[in-house]
Amino acid sequence: GGATSGGDAGAGYPDQNITFVVPFSAGGPTDVVTRMIAEPMAAKLGAKIVVQNAEGAGGTVGAGEVARAEPDGYTVLMHHIGMSTAPALYQNLGYKPLEDFEMVGLVTEVPMTVVARKDFAPTTLQELVTYVKANADKVTLANAGIGAASHLCGLLFQSATGVKLQEVPYEGTGPALTDLVGGQVDFMCDQTTNTSGQISSGKVKAYAVTTPERVKSLPDLPTTAEAGLPQLEVSVWHGLYVPTGTPQAVVQKLSEALKTALADPKVIDQMAKLGTAPVPAEDTTPQALRTKLEEQLGTWAKVIADAGVKAS
Ligand code: MLT
Repeated sequence: GGATSGGDAGAGYPDQNITFVVPFSAGGPTDVVTRMIAEPMAAKLGAKIVVQNAEGAGGTVGAGEVARAEPDGYTVLMHHIGMSTAPALYQNLGYKPLEDFEMVGLVTEVPMTVVARKDFAPTTLQELVTYVKANADKVTLANAGIGAASHLCGLLFQSATGVKLQEVPYEGTGPALTDLVGGQVDFMCDQTTNTSGQISSGKVKAYAVTTPERVKSLPDLPTTAEAGLPQLEVSVWHGLYVPTGTPQAVVQKLSEALKTALADPKVIDQMAKLGTAPVPAEDTTPQALRTKLEEQLGTWAKVIADAGVKAS
């Protein structure tokens, strides 16, 4: 592999396996979305895609590894809204989202659910708000580390309710959900791509979805607005990235393969069952992802500063 220099850079691409890096644990929502699109993308590209989990520090470890990888199209990063919150949360991030990556395209925007261990006392979102205000020092809130989507949603919950809770970080919300089902942690905010199964099977308690509209596959779950906490609104957009310097011909081939995968009926059906959907075809382009990332970097820097959270 490796890109040849000059105009035909990337012409023979791909001629070896491609690694898709997931910056969170296997079995979590980021991993699930990646494995959904990897198969049809591999078919379109005519190469094998190997999914590799590179956990740690709310997704920033994996993102940093891809920023420093060979810009030859054989290392691709799947990341989400955390790409736009990390700069406001980490003093020494080690990469610059807009400069150290080429954008491939947007993938999907996933709703979040507020879920709790089955026998947690509160039965509604309003009761949860009342309960945490009275028991802030005893309640544990799981997330996938500072910079994770679950961390951001937890931050929004704490600033909306004016409480500071004990946060329990995991390497991904896959393992966090296991502990929630086991009753080891009280509640968390996590994506429908991870929580839908446990909600439907009654293994966790669900209070609301964090989107303006209800989620079709979880019709009984009220929105946070209906449940009286309209400030808690966030959905987790995902994008594919390669290291800056990757030849444009390679970026285009990856973007085309992404567009094809998101038009695959199997992917559309799998996503619908897990409460989400592919982005429209026009958002699978490099420009669409760059525009989204630029806008989100500004949005979350302000929200995080207003919440009084300092980069650490
Ligand atoms: C997150 O909270 O950022 C992700 O859901 C973590 C994961 O994909 O495991």
